[in-house]
Parts: sequence; structure tokens; C-alpha cells
Amino acid sequence: MRRMTEAVSGLVNTDDDVRRAEPASPPKGADLPRGGDLEPDRPDGVGKRHNCDVEWEDFDSGSYWNHNYRSLREDDREIIRTVGSFFRKCFLGIPTDGLSGVDVGSGTNMYPALAMLPWCEKIELIDHSVRNVEWLQSEVSSLRSTWRPFWDELCSVGYERKDFPRVRAAIAGSTRVVRSNVFELTENTYDIGTMFFVAESMTDDENEFEKATECFLRSLRPGAPFAAAFMDSSEGYVVGDKLFPAVHEVTKTRVENVLAGLVADGEVTVDKIRVPPTDPLRDGYEGMLIAVGRTRGNP
Ligand SMILES: C[S@@+](CC[C@H](N)C(=O)[O-])C[C@H]1O[C@@H](n2cnc3c(N)ncnc32)[C@H](O)[C@@H]1O
Repeated sequence: MRRMTEAVSGLVNTDDDVRRAEPASPPKGADLPRGGDLEPDRPDGVGKRHNCDVEWEDFDSGSYWNHNYRSLREDDREIIRTVGSFFRKCFLGIPTDGLSGVDVGSGTNMYPALAMLPWCEKIELIDHSVRNVEWLQSEVSSLRSTWRPFWDELCSVGYERKDFPRVRAAIAGSTRVVRSNVFELTENTYDIGTMFFVAESMTDDENEFEKATECFLRSLRPGAPFAAAFMDSSEGYVVGDKLFPAVHEVTKTRVENVLAGLVADGEVTVDKIRVPPTDPLRDGYEGMLIAVGRTRGNP
């Protein structure tokens, strides 16, 4: 497979409240059937879209951010609390700020990086799409203030309450954006890691979902804390006017089974976050799943 690793970093910190123009919200819950304009699935797998078949350069970063992260949703609030509490518990009484962290398939989501920030000297944000890489590069250089409530939520579970300009400076100083591919991550590299809504939302193929989850976990050192989020039973999703694939078979049980083969016994918990009844993110999913745990082996 062609290796595509290209580092671009954003180290400039600018003032608060500098906003970039964003496109208007896409239609909420664009109601496309599973597969949409794709050929219907067949038992032999023909018609499924693999990760390499998807036009990731059609991923409209601004639209995705606008729909998902312009404001803090209730389901994300629950996820942040789960992940923040877990990471904090992992490092309680262990003064550490020199770890190497990774967020895989960052898209336009900065809260996984915020969740790792207190313990990391450096964090790599990895994405395959040049558009997302460029969006991230701009974002890390000047985190917009819409991320403040996300940070406040981490403080509510015990993160040190740094004022937001210091958080912004810490992100700009420690974060590097890297264009790469989850399937090409170097094993045994990072001390802590996150991967949110990637393995099940980058392909229609169940094997690729499992492989991406495995590659993510293998990129972490033994005993490393991790958090991974998945959409439950997703039928695919629209970004801008493009349909992106998802593995519909991903459920809580499926995630538990896949992780059980990769993580030491008793070292992972998977919680289901239900769809907020009055504020679903879109149609065509059954909730969100958040897994927290440690990779196999001793730290
Ligand atoms: C549904 S988005 C999730 C974005 C973000 N992590 C979030 O929490 O919203 C899926 C992301 O995976 C990225 N991606 C797709 N294929 C990838 C691959 N092979 N390696 C790394 N990232 C990939 C996409 O560019 C996109 O940013």
C-alpha cells in the first residue's frame, strides 16, 4: 500500500474569537437509504465501498464541523465525561506531562486532543484527507472559542481548570497534524490514543472496521490508555452533499467482541450513549458507543 505520511504543524497562537467563515448547516439528518446511490450490497461483498474507494477529498470539513461540533451536544457531553474520567483515573497520583499521544482520523473534532492534553508533551492528529489535514492545521494554530464548553466539561470531571487562552496555547505548542493512514500506523509508538467515529465510518466492509481498530490499538504501547468511539448501527452519513459509508453491523456487542480479542481481560468498558430524543444527530443510527481501556501488556 502506498505510504502517505506528511507532517504539517500549526504552532501559531492567535487571539480569541477569530472565526472562520463556515458554510451554512447541511440539512439535518439527510434521509438517504443505506448505500444511497451505491450499488446494493450482494452476499459476495460486491457493491460495498472499501476505504480506498471513498473520495475522502470530497469530505467537506467546514460542513462536518458545523453539523457536529459548532456547539456541544448532549451525547458528546456524555462521551467527554466518560473519557475524561477514565484518563484522569489512569494518571491519578502519577505526575506525567511528557507522553506522546495520537488521535486517529481527527476530521474536525478537537475534543479527543483536549482530553489527552494534560498528560502529553506531543499529540499527533492523523487524518487521511488533505482537506481535513488543512482544516486541522488551521485549527490547532488558533483553537476557536467554540471548544471552550468542551474543555469546561473536562474540567467538570477534574481536569485542571486552565483558562482557555492557555489551553489554546498548549494545543498550538504540542499538536502536530500528520497526513497518514490508519492502516499504515507504526506499531508500538504512542503512550495514549483516541480514535473517534473512524473505524466504522470509513468503509462498508466489516473486515476493514476490525482491521482499523486493530491497527489503532497496535500503534499504542503495551498498557496504554485509549478511548475509541463508534456509531451504533450507522447507515452511512452525509457530509455537505456527499454520502460516506459506515458498517451497519457495528453494535455494542460487536465492539465488545472485537476489542476482547485485542485488549487484556477486564481492561475495556463499552458504554452505549442513546440518541437524544429531541436532538438526534441525524437519521440512520442507533446511538453512539464509547470504549475506554488499556492495551494488552504492562505499561
Ligand atoms: C466520520 S469522520 C470522524 C472524524 C472525527 N474523528 C470525529 O470524531 O468526528 C471519519 C474520519 O476518518 C478519516 N479517515 C478515513 N479513512 C481514513 C484512513 N484510512 N486513515 C485515517 N483516517 C481516515 C476521514 O478523513 C474522516 O476525518
